[in-house]
Amino acid sequence: MTQLTDDQLEIQQRARELATEVIAPRAAEVDETEEYPWDNVTALQEAGFTGMTVPKDLGGPGRSFLDAVLVIEEMAKVCGVTGRIAVECNMGAISAAIAYGTDQQRKLAAEFVLNGDKPAICITEPDAGSAASEMTTRADKRGNTYVVNGKKHWITGGGVSRLHLIFARVYDESGAEQGIGGFLAVRDETPGLTYGLREPTMGLRGIPEREVIFEDMEVGEDMVLLPPSGFRRGFADLMNAYNSQRVGAGTVALGLAAGAYEQALDFVKEREQFGRPIAEFQGLQWMLADMSVKLEAARSLTHRAATSRGPNDSPFPDPTLAAQAKIFTAERAIEVASDALQMFGAAGYSRRNPLERMLRDVRMFTIGGGTAQILRTVVASRILDMKLPQSRDGYTR
Ligand code: FAD
Ligand code: COA
Repeated sequence: MTQLTDDQLEIQQRARELATEVIAPRAAEVDETEEYPWDNVTALQEAGFTGMTVPKDLGGPGRSFLDAVLVIEEMAKVCGVTGRIAVECNMGAISAAIAYGTDQQRKLAAEFVLNGDKPAICITEPDAGSAASEMTTRADKRGNTYVVNGKKHWITGGGVSRLHLIFARVYDESGAEQGIGGFLAVRDETPGLTYGLREPTMGLRGIPEREVIFEDMEVGEDMVLLPPSGFRRGFADLMNAYNSQRVGAGTVALGLAAGAYEQALDFVKEREQFGRPIAEFQGLQWMLADMSVKLEAARSLTHRAATSRGPNDSPFPDPTLAAQAKIFTAERAIEVASDALQMFGAAGYSRRNPLERMLRDVRMFTIGGGTAQILRTVVASRILDMKLPQSRDGYTR
């Protein structure tokens, strides 16, 4: 496992205490009420666990992705929803804004996350999920502004997030396509930014997954997040920033599985059948051993991805390692959480027990943030050094 510094061990310990004492007792209620846990957001913010990766010149602590990963795992061990909030307050949209933004944009984004806002990242559309580069949300240049029209769906935090990073296809005044750009918009401040249906989800119910709709939404040029190579390679650069969020998402899966495993470890020592603790049965001992192997391997890979950097002085995790870590961690985490539930027998299947919630929560991570299938194509493309366009005509937009 990664050798953590004294400072990192201290953050991890503080996160563990906050998770156990404050977040865990509320987790079932967050799931049942399906309400965004604003109290948990305040607790995270007061502990300095939002905006951790904001550089010092912007008023943040300038911590690393690995520092954030340590906090995310501890939160997710007890509450997947709070783990996810901790991801997006520290990675993803905020990483893109800090790396690519103007001084004004960096300051704006930093203030939001330092104050506990979980920015929304708006990529997926009804007809462009895995095929994200086929998005049709469009931004038309009109003088000093862009007029954005389109619809995103499955947007985490839709309706509660204030800051939005919206991916849109850009057209100049003559109607010629320029590529894909990022547009910053703020709920209640950007006219034309509205919200549609909320999905009733299987798990992670305390965060809304909602349609986000743009109806002649006007964005000034000062809110265009223009990556270094401009719109032409805007999609690639924005997805590069997104690698940080993939590492974060994998960490939530890791945390949920680790939390389920710890509960199973306690339970097998207490529960007796055939006149002895069920921990004495080799059938369960070997399951626990396998679970521990999967968790250690997933944690090591996640930490390696968090501390890696992509090519060409990228400030973000390496794309291949981020994808490898998310595939492996999400798939192993589902297995570990399911095996933990198995050890509880019928009690595991009861809604009185957190295991069923954790299994519903963890099921998401082979889907959101790039499916396990798509991420395999990302990995294959990079290890083979081959373009692998998935469209029939072999064309990449
Ligand atoms: P599809 O692309 O329709 O895929 C359907 C199936 O086909 C999948 O199994 C997929 O793996 C497979 N498939 C598709 N293409 C290929 C291929 N070429 N090779 C092999 N298999 C393939 N999006 C955002 O933009 N912002 C968010 O905040 C956000 N949050 C989310 C939160 C949750 C809880 C969930 C579930 C999703 C979220 N998403 C978000 C959307 C998510 O990124 C998409 O669901 C994902 O990219 C897959 O798209 P899709 O659902 O349209 O599935
Ligand atoms: N990191 C760095 N660069 C990336 C990247 C990533 N995660 N994903 C794509 N790129 C780059 C590619 O390397 C390519 O650059 P190149 O022209 O130098 O080779 C460029 O972006 C286009 O990618 P490509 O794979 O050719 O695009 P495609 O049109 O075939 O689309 C994706 C495939 C990228 C959309 C698909 O792999 C994907 O990631 N889908 C999931 C979307 C997702 O994660 N949504 C989550 C929403 S929360």
